[in-house]
Amino acid sequence: MSVMIIAVPTETFPGERRVALTPARIAALTKAGFAVQIQAGAGQAAGFTDEAYQERQATMVADRQALITNADVVFQVRTPGANPQYGLADIPLYKAGSLVVGFADPLMQPTVMAAMAQQGVTLMAMELIPRISRAQSMDALSSMANLAGYKAVLLAANELSRICPMMMTAAGTLTPAKVLVIGAGVAGLQAIATARRLGAVVSAYDVRPAVKEQIQSLGAKFIELPLETGDAQTAGGYAKEQSGDQQQRQRELMTGAVRDADVVISTAAVPGKKAPVLITAGMVHQMKAGSVIIDLAAATGGNCELTQADQRVDTHGVCIWGPTNLPSTLAVHASELYSNNLCHLLMHLTKESKIVLDETDQITRDTMVTRGGHVVNAMVQKALGPGEADGQ
Ligand code: NAI
Repeated sequence: MSVMIIAVPTETFPGERRVALTPARIAALTKAGFAVQIQAGAGQAAGFTDEAYQERQATMVADRQALITNADVVFQVRTPGANPQYGLADIPLYKAGSLVVGFADPLMQPTVMAAMAQQGVTLMAMELIPRISRAQSMDALSSMANLAGYKAVLLAANELSRICPMMMTAAGTLTPAKVLVIGAGVAGLQAIATARRLGAVVSAYDVRPAVKEQIQSLGAKFIELPLETGDAQTAGGYAKEQSGDQQQRQRELMTGAVRDADVVISTAAVPGKKAPVLITAGMVHQMKAGSVIIDLAAATGGNCELTQADQRVDTHGVCIWGPTNLPSTLAVHASELYSNNLCHLLMHLTKESKIVLDETDQITRDTMVTRGGHVVNAMVQKALGPGEADGQ
């Protein structure tokens, strides 16, 4: 039986510093019967040298085309869907029948998914790993959101013209900064924890009342809004999209909390949808000069009306940042976690050194976007429209 080859190409998305496989994971893959090939320089931006990969018995390949064409499995941070500008050039290189694993933005880039199907690859999109206990070790969105929540608070602290903790000095007592976190999913909860560790007074709001206890257990205040959210949560634990009226009511009710905050970290998101706009220009203009908003939802339009993706906006003395790729700024740890997530998924799919795609298994079924020339994921099929799911 020939050995299956896992290939790790260099990321081509502008500014992307993460790498999909770190040297530390190679031994486990080799033990499971795979041979690992890395594009020369792929780990460099994350601080992993070619020598570090070679020491773990990976083969370095200079030619990207040869690397991808020969691979049975391709590990990427951003597969073409998550890198439409530069990633499309990879599509004709994938071998028919190969398995491509990585972020793919499948719901926003359905036509790229159709092109992947047409190439005959099996694509597993890391965004679609179900949020169930069994799949926690594979949940790359959570791994990355966790790091982003942490970094968002550091960015805010750095911008702020006041300190986060209370400080009693001989010259006087400084009051702690007030941090408001909107959306207490993975990123939001980590932002709360980080802001608390810096000594800030933290309050948080989420449409899912289920998170109240988690917010409180981190030492933050849960903001109760008299808002009719109905059944705000899906079976998968994600928020449901609100109506326009509900969003309007939420904005009105949150105005006071936003005005009082020195820092707002916004992370409100509904999977596959545009981010809800929860902070209007009018609300920003009521904030104190020197306040800071870090909008983690910038990539999907932003929770603040004034957010511009990857730009700093200064208005009425308030600074608004909408960074879209904070995990890349923590490339070592982001690569470590992401690489672990990919390897856990691959091990889940591997039986006796063979990849077995068992569609009765929820993790496999939910994560798989294309197989055998077709788009097989129902949500992506819906996004594509009738008759387009076979990639023709
Ligand atoms: P998540 O789904 O775990 O959390 C989002 C939270 O927002 C949920 O708890 C949900 O109930 C809440 N929510 C939805 N609508 C709301 C509303 N109207 N008001 C208040 N809360 C609301 O998502 P996760 O993984 O924490 O990611 C959060 C955001 O951060 C996403 O937009 C994600 O794309 C983004 N992100 C950004 C990164 C960056 O570098 N900028 C990196 C990683 C994630």
